Amino acid sequence: MRPGPAEEISAAIADGMIPAHVYGDPEVFELERRNLFPRTWVFLGHTSEIPHPGDFVLRRIVDDSFIVTRDDTGRIGVHLNMCLHRGMQVCRAEMGNTRMFRCPYHAWSYRNDGSLAGLPFHDEAYGGEEGLSRDRHRLVAPARVETYNGLMFAAVEDPGISLEDFLGDFRFYLDLYTAQSESGLELRGPQRWRVNANWKIGCENFVGDMYHTPYTHRSVVDIGLFREPKAHKRKEGVLYHCGVGGGTTYKLPPGDFTERMRYVGYPDIMIDRMAALWSEPQRRMVGDDGFMVSAATLFPNLSLVHNWPIVREGEDVVPFISLRQWHPVSATETEVLSWFAVDAEAPDDFKADSYKAYLMCFGSSGMFEQDDIENWVSITTAAAGSMAHRLQLNSRMGLLHDGGQVGRPLDDFPGPGFARVGYGEFNQRNWLQMWSRHLFPPGAGDTTGRDTGGER
Ligand code: FES
Ligand SMILES: [Fe+2]
Repeated sequence: MRPGPAEEISAAIADGMIPAHVYGDPEVFELERRNLFPRTWVFLGHTSEIPHPGDFVLRRIVDDSFIVTRDDTGRIGVHLNMCLHRGMQVCRAEMGNTRMFRCPYHAWSYRNDGSLAGLPFHDEAYGGEEGLSRDRHRLVAPARVETYNGLMFAAVEDPGISLEDFLGDFRFYLDLYTAQSESGLELRGPQRWRVNANWKIGCENFVGDMYHTPYTHRSVVDIGLFREPKAHKRKEGVLYHCGVGGGTTYKLPPGDFTERMRYVGYPDIMIDRMAALWSEPQRRMVGDDGFMVSAATLFPNLSLVHNWPIVREGEDVVPFISLRQWHPVSATETEVLSWFAVDAEAPDDFKADSYKAYLMCFGSSGMFEQDDIENWVSITTAAAGSMAHRLQLNSRMGLLHDGGQVGRPLDDFPGPGFARVGYGEFNQRNWLQMWSRHLFPPGAGDTTGRDTGGER
């Protein structure tokens, strides 16, 4: 039997050669829509976005719209935004606070826990409770909803693995962004915009593309936004990969944990909290080895970034954290959701400066964002052409023909997974291998996201 597109793609990727059309092919997008996104844990937002009873935000998983609510009792729920009667979207506001969602078509109304509260002419049209019991009707929910460090995730179909097991040891790295104090993060945003680029390109860029920084973002260094005078410093960092996620780090100058955290721009009060909360290996990664997390991607489409630009001329750097989601709209279009994230216990002046740092670098006004998008739109345009079916992109950086590897593995790296110093496309290949396993229909292969080994 002739192999299908999923088999062909999977085989090529194992060799580090990426069929170019996967970044612009509607047939591939259809496989992602049907087989990938409904069957894995997908990020929806953070609990700090809906702090009070009645708060809600609208979020999507590909083309399904969900209302993410905190109900009157404070419980978080996720409800398909589709009326049980004729299918109208019952909520049309992106965010707000309400006890009730009333459908605009015939006015069935739902409580903020998704249950059906009432419908017009219940007795006359339906014969009352006997004909249509309100208790037995509620908005459809995804199979599973779970949170980690306030990050809310849903799985449309049961992926057969808890969120915590899915995240696995990648939590070691995720904690460095999302648990800087007992109170965790608070988020602002998201800023949202659409780009004519395939969603996978952002995921791959953030998972491990340290190689683009010196060239694509050269102007950012030239204008003095960063203290590091040389963009090529990126190759002194470590690339790490661990199960469902991977990322990049910067190498910090010599010093102990406190000195290195100060170098990144954290005030002592925050450093003390991180020192108390983080595990000994987490502290060692920064304090002894001098590696500080920067960009990362958690499969499938959540990326994180941590950077420390100069916010005011002549002053020290200020760090910021951003969460970003590459939300697929089609094979050639992505909606980007970009949140500013900051430790909820951080001092107010730090929060204000950190927000400014974020706006200068990322978000719709951010300089890094502008640089990156230019490339990604161009790739997508080329990948949607018919000749793209004849090209396999060379994503073999770090691999030799004889199977050997370039770069230095770090066997004593304090974090889980594997780590290598310098440039390489190990992380992109691992991300793509995981992606390609999810193209197959249900029953064909393990798509739960467990760490199946991958390239080391
Ligand atoms: S479609 Fe919602 S009430 Fe009829
Ligand atoms: Fe970039």
